[in-house]
Amino acid sequence: MTHWRIDAPGQTLALAAGDGLPRVIWWGAPLPPTEDLAALEAATRSDLTGGMLDRLPDLTLCPLPAADWQGQPGLEVAEADGTPLHPRLAFARAESGPGNLRLVSQGDGLTLTHHLQAHPTGIITLSAEVQANRPLRLRWLAAAALPLPQQDAEMIEVSGRWLAEFHLTATPWSPGARLRESRTGRSGQEHPPYALFPEPGCTNTQGTARALHFAWSGGHRMLAEELPDGRRQVQMGHAAGAWTAPATRFRTADLIAAVSTTGLNGIAATFQRDIRDRVIRWPDPARPRPVHYNCWEAVYFDHDLATLADIASRAAALGAERFVLDDGWFKGRDNDTSSLGDWTVDRRKWPDGLHPLIAHVRSLGMTFGLWVEPEMVNPDSDLYRAHPDWALGPSDQTTGRNQMVLDMGRTEVRDHLFAALSELLNEYPIDYLKWDHNRLLPVVDAAQTEGAYALIDRLRAAYPAVEIESCASGGGRVDAGILARTHRVWLSDCLDPTERLRIQHDAALFLPACVTGSHVGARKAHTTGRDQPISYRARVAALRHFGFEMDLRALTEDEARTLAEVTAWWKANRAWLMRATILRLDSADPALTAEMHLSDSGDRFLVAGGQAATSRQILPRPLRLTGLDPAARYRLRLTNAQDAPPQSRRRAALANGPLILSGRALMDQGILLPVAWPATLWLVEGDRLPT
Ligand code: GLA
Repeated sequence: MTHWRIDAPGQTLALAAGDGLPRVIWWGAPLPPTEDLAALEAATRSDLTGGMLDRLPDLTLCPLPAADWQGQPGLEVAEADGTPLHPRLAFARAESGPGNLRLVSQGDGLTLTHHLQAHPTGIITLSAEVQANRPLRLRWLAAAALPLPQQDAEMIEVSGRWLAEFHLTATPWSPGARLRESRTGRSGQEHPPYALFPEPGCTNTQGTARALHFAWSGGHRMLAEELPDGRRQVQMGHAAGAWTAPATRFRTADLIAAVSTTGLNGIAATFQRDIRDRVIRWPDPARPRPVHYNCWEAVYFDHDLATLADIASRAAALGAERFVLDDGWFKGRDNDTSSLGDWTVDRRKWPDGLHPLIAHVRSLGMTFGLWVEPEMVNPDSDLYRAHPDWALGPSDQTTGRNQMVLDMGRTEVRDHLFAALSELLNEYPIDYLKWDHNRLLPVVDAAQTEGAYALIDRLRAAYPAVEIESCASGGGRVDAGILARTHRVWLSDCLDPTERLRIQHDAALFLPACVTGSHVGARKAHTTGRDQPISYRARVAALRHFGFEMDLRALTEDEARTLAEVTAWWKANRAWLMRATILRLDSADPALTAEMHLSDSGDRFLVAGGQAATSRQILPRPLRLTGLDPAARYRLRLTNAQDAPPQSRRRAALANGPLILSGRALMDQGILLPVAWPATLWLVEGDRLPT
């Protein structure tokens, strides 16, 4: 029996292998360096009894029927002609370097390699690779099968829909297998590739949790299973059948694993750090995140220079630094029924091209960004008329938003798109692309995602200064696969601050503020019809990568003043806020969504308490803070006492000036916010005082 361990800050993964495939004997909090792995492995061996085989099959990294595994297998493979294969594999060798391990197993003409790597951000990545001596059909390959504790009561899955992304759903464990799969060809709003496994008693701020994220944009599959003997496993990989053609080599994307002993916030902190410091490749890490203006909800497809130049001037006056021209600028695009694929400027709307608008935007000190949706094509487009065979899937397929998708697996399609986008990037000083993906795909196909990645990678190499935003009808493509080649996600098409507050709060378990786009929308939200004050709309957006998206001509003077103030506040604080860790607070009042943004050094923080609905009790409940030094003293200051309603008699200490308390008092007793109307977001700034 051979043993290995991989340690990342915050977790240990230990493995053992004898004759069979390697298996995980520990995935959890860091083990002491002196842990005896042979004893640990021995301690995982169970008794036997009746009603089972005379050998307990191991839960290996890839459990297989040929090794007596009667639960969900980690690999389903067939000969090229479709004959099912039940390979017998045995561990062959290990190769290890600092923080990484490659475990190679072989049999029946197959080599199965598991790649494991610890990263300084605190995560461990795992992926699986199959190589064969003949072309095979692969239906399913788990990046890894991992054991989970039997005492956990539930898992937390992420689900959602357009306008209501990132809902956390607790699913109780029970005997049998739970399958969750995104079969829409994208990571999707419905089943994004995240899962949390809290131990009993785990809250945002305390307890133990494990978490997984599959770094892939083409749709994932998660299998969580409790076996009849009581053991539990979880597997993640590409959606089944994603490899459509026989091949001799297959490799999964990375499964990203995190462990926390400080509640779900420990997972959030690790995933946020990992996305920000490892996954994203910033063109210029030192450049502050610019304040965005996006014109979509202001003008939709109705573009004209005078209007957009006027709006751009107003945006700049309010503090915007990047102007993004959204959908509607290209040839024939007057609504969503036509023209995707025809990426040349519409001369009816823009007789002199985009030059006059861009020159105006730049004269105002803003940079310029452009919306594109390169992977898509409308049947009513010159591109489709010229190349109907470039569309993916059957010609009589049901369209989505009137569009089809190009077959990104084809070199000529990618070359064409590269040339079309290059022409735009060569002609115009564009520093940003909002890259959209607005339909569910007709088939599940890994080549589609790999093709999209290859195109973006080629563009990034050719235009390294251009940043890209990943949008897919809002948050339909938010994962570490796409974020390895983009720099921001458009989390949702819902700008209603009450909805957005919830969406971005739940997404903070996985995403740092600096990549999470959030815009101030119109007074009456376009997607819910709710009317909410600018103080609330602006402050909710200011908790993430800030921008505006509305017709700025409709602002009253008061609204414009508040928006300019919040923008100035965001700019003054972004240097630390965009690097801060978002910690979700355990609010005792379901009407209050609260989070803390704690600076890297721990010396300053922001408490955001969003009153989304009316509370049941008369007065605000104490809000306990987290992540502070119990012995240190902190000064707290409410930044927007003016948002208190007439019913508030302003007796809360914070409404009357700064409050100085120890970390212990702030974390155990908490703070009392003033009485609030629904649609209020309190912002409290905190600073650690010198000792
Ligand atoms: C999607 C995006 C929106 C907008 C439109 C344009 O719905 O999510 O932000 O860009 O497309 O058609």
